[in-house]
Amino acid sequence: MCGIIGYVGSEPAVPVLVEGLRCLEYRGYDSAGLAVVTPDGALDVRRAPGKLKNLEAELRQHPMEGSYGLGHTRWATHGVPNEENAHPHRDNSGKMVVVHNGIIENYVHLRRRLSEEGYNFETDTDTETIVHLIASLYEGDLEAAVRRAVAELEGIYAFAVMSLDEPQKIVAARQGPPLIVGLGEGQQFIASDVTPILSHSRRVVFLDDEQIATVTPAGVQVSNFAGEALQVEAQEVLWDPITAQKGGYRHFMLKEINEQPEMVRDSLVGRLNRSRGDVSLPDLGLDAAGAEAISKIFLVACGTSWHAALVGKFWIESLARVPVEVDYGSEFRYRDPLLPAGAVVCAISQSGETADTLAAMREAQARGAGLWAICNVLGSMATRLADEVVYTHAGLEIGVASTKAFTTQLVCLYLLALRLASLRGTLSPEQLAERVQALATLPRSIEMVLTGEGQFVSLAQRFADRHNFLYLGRGPLYPIALEGALKLKEISYIHAEGYPAGEMKHGPIALIDPDLPVLGLAPQGPWYEKILSNLQEVRAREGRLIVLATKGDAEVAEVADEVITIPVCHPDLTPVLAVVPLQLLAYHVAVRLGCDVDQPRNLAKSVTVE
Ligand code: G6P
Repeated sequence: MCGIIGYVGSEPAVPVLVEGLRCLEYRGYDSAGLAVVTPDGALDVRRAPGKLKNLEAELRQHPMEGSYGLGHTRWATHGVPNEENAHPHRDNSGKMVVVHNGIIENYVHLRRRLSEEGYNFETDTDTETIVHLIASLYEGDLEAAVRRAVAELEGIYAFAVMSLDEPQKIVAARQGPPLIVGLGEGQQFIASDVTPILSHSRRVVFLDDEQIATVTPAGVQVSNFAGEALQVEAQEVLWDPITAQKGGYRHFMLKEINEQPEMVRDSLVGRLNRSRGDVSLPDLGLDAAGAEAISKIFLVACGTSWHAALVGKFWIESLARVPVEVDYGSEFRYRDPLLPAGAVVCAISQSGETADTLAAMREAQARGAGLWAICNVLGSMATRLADEVVYTHAGLEIGVASTKAFTTQLVCLYLLALRLASLRGTLSPEQLAERVQALATLPRSIEMVLTGEGQFVSLAQRFADRHNFLYLGRGPLYPIALEGALKLKEISYIHAEGYPAGEMKHGPIALIDPDLPVLGLAPQGPWYEKILSNLQEVRAREGRLIVLATKGDAEVAEVADEVITIPVCHPDLTPVLAVVPLQLLAYHVAVRLGCDVDQPRNLAKSVTVE
C-alpha cells in the first residue's frame, strides 16, 4: 500500500529514486511522484497518474536534477488516482514536501481546523493534512515539528518530509507501515522495504513504531515520539539484489513460480534429519513439555497466506492432534475470540507487514496467548511482535500474486506439524521417517511439474475466453482449489470460485453447463474416490472438466476433457505439488489475455492499511 523512498547523498538523486520506485512499485501503482532539491536550491516536484512508466516518460521529456529527494508510488485510499492526488504533497509555502504510506484517520478534523487557520488544501488526500500540519508546527526545527505533528495524528503512517529550510535532511516517522533506513558511505536512504536499498547497501535499520529518523548524508539519528534518542543496531540483509530482477523471465511471477524448487529446498535446509528420520525447527524454541502444553493453535493470515493456513490446519490436526482454528486477520481482531489457556496464535505472512494480520497478533498478545509467526521478511513487524518465528526462505517475492511464498509457507506448516507430532508422540518413528523422506524429494517433484509448462500455454489458449471457472477440491486440496481460483481471478480478472467438492451439490451445481470449465483436484490420496464421484456429477451435466491427477491415472482420463498431472508423491504433500500447475494455468491465461501479470489492477502486494 504505497511505497516511499528517500535519498540524501552526493549521487544524482533522480536515478536513485526512480530505480527505488521501480522496486517498490509492487506496493501500489495508481500514480508515482518525485520531489528533489535542485542544485540551485529549488524544490522540483513531478507527478504522474498511473504506473511509474508515465512518470519516467515525463522525466525524459522534462529532465530534473537533484542531490536529495523523496519518491512515492501510490495505492489510492483517499482521493481518486489522478495527478493532483499523487504524492509528494507540498505545503503552501512550497518549501516543504511529504510522502506517506497509510491512513490518517482524523484527517477530516485536522483539515477543517487547518483550513480555518488559513491553510489551502489542493487535493482530496488525507496525506496533505500531514504537510500542512507540520508546516503549522514548524519553528525552525523539522524534527521537532514532526514530533509535535505525530502527537496530533491518528491512524497509521510511515511518512517522510523534507524542507528547503533544512537542506540535505529527511525526517521520517513510523506508526504502523514499515519504514527502513539504509546506511551507506556519505549517503543514506529511507524506504518502505529493503529492495531499493540492496543495490547500494546491505546495512539497514528497521524502524519500530513510534520512532522518528532524521537522515543526513553523515548518518541517521533515531528517537522515539517522546523525543528520547535511541541506540539502534544496523542489520545485515543477505538477499541478493539480483533477485530483484527478472533474470530473463518475462514476468516476476513466472520467475518466482520457477524458483519454487530452490526456495522449497532452502526452506528445508537444516530442518530435516534424514538419517534420524526426524525434523527440527531450531527457530521455534519448543520442547516436549511446551508442545504438550499447547491447547489450541489459531492460524491467522490474509489472502494467499490464509489459504496456507487452511492446509496447515489439516496437517497439524491430523498429524499432531492439536485443535486448530483458522482466522482471517481482519475477522480475528473483531470477533472477541475465545483463547483457552495454552492457546498459541500463529500468524502467517509473507511480508510480515499486513495490517490486519499485525492487528490480530496484537489482539492475541493482549489476551496473553503465545505468539508465533511464519514469515518471509527478516526484521518485519510480525517477526518483531512474535515470541517465536519460523522463517520461510522464499527470498524476495515481487509478483503481486504470491507463489513461492505460498509453497514455502506450506513447507513450514508441514514441518511444524511434524515437529509437534514428534514432540507429542502422535506419529510412530516409522510414520515420521516416511514423511521426512517424502519432504526431501519435494523440490525434485516440483521441478518435474515445471517441465510441463507448455501444456498450460495451450490450455490457456482454449479456456482464456471463459467468464467463469469453478475449482473443486476436498480435504487439504479444498484450500488449493481456493488458491487456484484466487490466482486466476487476481491476475486475469476472470471470475473463479473455489469450492469443497462435496458441497457442490448444495448450490454451485446449478451453474454447470458446457461453458463452465470445472477444474477438479483429484490426485491419488484419501479423497480420491470421493472427488471422482463429484467430478462424475459435473460430467453428467456437461461441464467442461479439467482434472489434476497423479501421473498414470487411467480412470481420471476417462472422466476428464483435459488432464493435468503431478508426479506420484506422499498423499500429505499433494497440496504443495497441486498448486504449481494452477499457478501456471492462471499465469498463461493472464498472459494470453494481455493482462498486467505482475501488477494486476487495484491490488498491492503488502496491504498495510486496514
Ligand atoms: C495481499 C497480496 C497477497 C497476500 C496478502 C497477504 O493481498 O496481494 O498476495 O497473500 O496480501 O499478505 P502477507 O504478506 O501477509 O502474506
